[in-house]
Order: sequence, then C-alpha cells, then structure tokens
Amino acid sequence: MSDLLDDIASVGVNDTGITLFEGQFAVSKGMSYNSYIIKDEKITVMDTVDAHFGEAWLGNIRREIGAQEVAYLVVQHMEPDHSSNIAAFAAAYPSATIVASAAAFVMMKNYFGTDFADRRLIIKEGDTLNTGRHLLKFVAAPMVHWPEVMVTFDEATGSLFSADAFGKFGATNIPDDEGWDCEARRYYFGIVGKFGVQVQALLAKAAKLPISRIYPLHGPIFTTAEEIQHALELYTTWSRYEVETKGVFIAYTSVYGHTQRVAEELASLLTAKGIKVAKADLTREDMHEAIEDAFRYGTLILATTSYNNGVFPKMREFIEHLLERNYQKRCVGFIENGSWAPCAAKKMQEMFAAAKEVTFLPTTVTIKGAAYNHADLEKLAEEIKA
Ligand code: FEO
Repeated sequence: MSDLLDDIASVGVNDTGITLFEGQFAVSKGMSYNSYIIKDEKITVMDTVDAHFGEAWLGNIRREIGAQEVAYLVVQHMEPDHSSNIAAFAAAYPSATIVASAAAFVMMKNYFGTDFADRRLIIKEGDTLNTGRHLLKFVAAPMVHWPEVMVTFDEATGSLFSADAFGKFGATNIPDDEGWDCEARRYYFGIVGKFGVQVQALLAKAAKLPISRIYPLHGPIFTTAEEIQHALELYTTWSRYEVETKGVFIAYTSVYGHTQRVAEELASLLTAKGIKVAKADLTREDMHEAIEDAFRYGTLILATTSYNNGVFPKMREFIEHLLERNYQKRCVGFIENGSWAPCAAKKMQEMFAAAKEVTFLPTTVTIKGAAYNHADLEKLAEEIKA
C-alpha cells in the first residue's frame, strides 16, 4: 500500500494574500486550495483551485507528470474556490474526461457555458473509476457543503478525498500554533454548521470505510489513525450539536463600557468558582470566532444594550448567525442594559423561541446605565454553576 500512496501527490496552492475567504471569513493566515494528482496508468487529478492560481496549479501538475496526458479530472465540488479552473484544465488537457455528478455538470454549464457533454463521465453514489492500480469509489455528500458534492474513496490505499469536509482555514505553508481544532471548528460552523444532519449522513458512510488517510480540499492531509479518529470524533460532536467543552461563553456588546464591566465581573465570579470561561466583544472581535465558541461551550451568556426598543445590532446579528446554524441543546442566560426602558433580554429570549432544546437561566441581570444589583449577578453565577 505504501508504494501506492506514493502515486498520490499534492498539486494545490496556498493563498497567503487573501484576507476574507468567501467574502466573509477573516483568514489572517491565508487559505489553501488543495488539489491532488494520482499518478496511475490513467493519470487522475482531483479538483482544481481558485481562479487566481490557475497557472500555478497547471505548473504543479506539469511538475509531477511532465508532458504526460491526464486521463481524468474528478470534480467533487463546484464552489469556485475549487472549480474555477475546470475550463482552463479542459483546454490544457483536451483528451481528458471530466468526472462529476449530474448536479455538478448542471453547475458547470452555468459557470462555463458548457457541460462538457462530449467528454464527460457522470457518476453517482457507489460508482467506481478504475485508474489502473487505484479504484476510486464515489460517495454522495450532499450539503457538505453544496448539493452536488461527491467525496471519493480510493480502495487501493484507504484514502478518502473528502472535499470540504475536514478542512480548515489557513495556508498550509504558514504554521498554525493552535493545531487543527480551532480553525477547523471556525470553518465547520462557518460553512456547514446548519447542515448537521447531512454531515451525520456522510459520517455514517465514512464509518463503513477503512480510512487510512484523508485528503481534504483545505488544510493539512491526515496521515495517522490518531489524527483521523480525532477529526471524526470532533465532526460527530459538532454535527450532533453536542457540547465539546464544559464551560461558559460570554458574548457581549457595550457602548460605553458599563455592560462590558458587568460581563467581566460575571467572568471573574465564574472563574473563582472553577468554571472555564471564554468571552468576546461582538463589536470588536471576530464574529465567526464567537460563533464557534457558542457551539463549543454548554452555557451561553448574552450581555447587550436595549436599542430602538429591541436588541443592539451586533448582538442581534450574532443570534441570527446562531439560529440559522440550528443552535440547540444549550443553556442561555441574559444580561441587559437600558438607561430608561431595558427590553433586550425579553427580545433576545423571543428570538430563541424556535430553537430546539434551549433552556433559559431564571435570573436576568438588568443594568440601568451603570447601576445593577450585584446580588442578581451572584445569583446568575450560582445558576450557571448548578
Ligand atoms: Fe471550499 Fe465549499 O468550497
């Protein structure tokens, strides 16, 4: 098997100039667009890369195979960070066959004006592609991350080409001292947090495969059983919306600092009780970091200002992000501020009305300007501890 693994090489690229992935996710350490080549009797390329890196990517393919022809381009996912160079590839390798799901070819027609009808192979769940020494089996993974997605299992090496699944933010040539979990979690809840049921369906299929390697379209390749087990366990926790870390996440906004002071006082009370606490200023810190922490911890405290007889905008936006990702199975408490008619706690609780298995802590702390009852805050801390 190890000889056969040598057939597989990376031909992807790193984007270290990007600041916002998908126009919304801050990526201070860039992004990788992975692509792989299987140097078999019928040379096969797995996915393309972002539009800005077509020449570099084609150069990486030439580096691996020189002037040899490519037999197949497998398109697992049509989002443009991976599909943008399909037409360029088709021109560079005119005898190659494009392999993808029927839904992907519909998207190709929309993106490129052609569905490659004269040189395509439409595949579906369970179909196989024999490239010589390798046998690629296709597995449907709808909504991980788009509806057309297929992942590919190489039966010869136990390699799972997993499309977006198990990816992370960050270029692979920039060290990430935090390891895989943090940016993989932010990526997961950012792009597929809403689709836990569909991720569970893919995990159920993956559980039946003897996976020895995972080749995602973003981030590092998984080469050990421990790495693979760890990633599968976290994906199971995340897709079931289960608590990953016991503790409290305090998300706050604060116009003049009074709400922030009370949020920080609560954090101190909880820390003194031995409870793990994370907190974020939603106005000044990364919104998607806050979203991943809301899903990571079991208790969420929301502290904000009443605003236009409702909820301060950044807090409202944060709650909407959680709800559209099926936020559930958590305990939520409130701290509200209002100089004359505080209403934010009631309005926030109303926003969670349709969320499944969300319970509310009984004590709400109300701040009027700077004044609040410290006994209420201690009571809230006790309820969190209970
Ligand atoms: Fe990395 Fe859904 O594209």
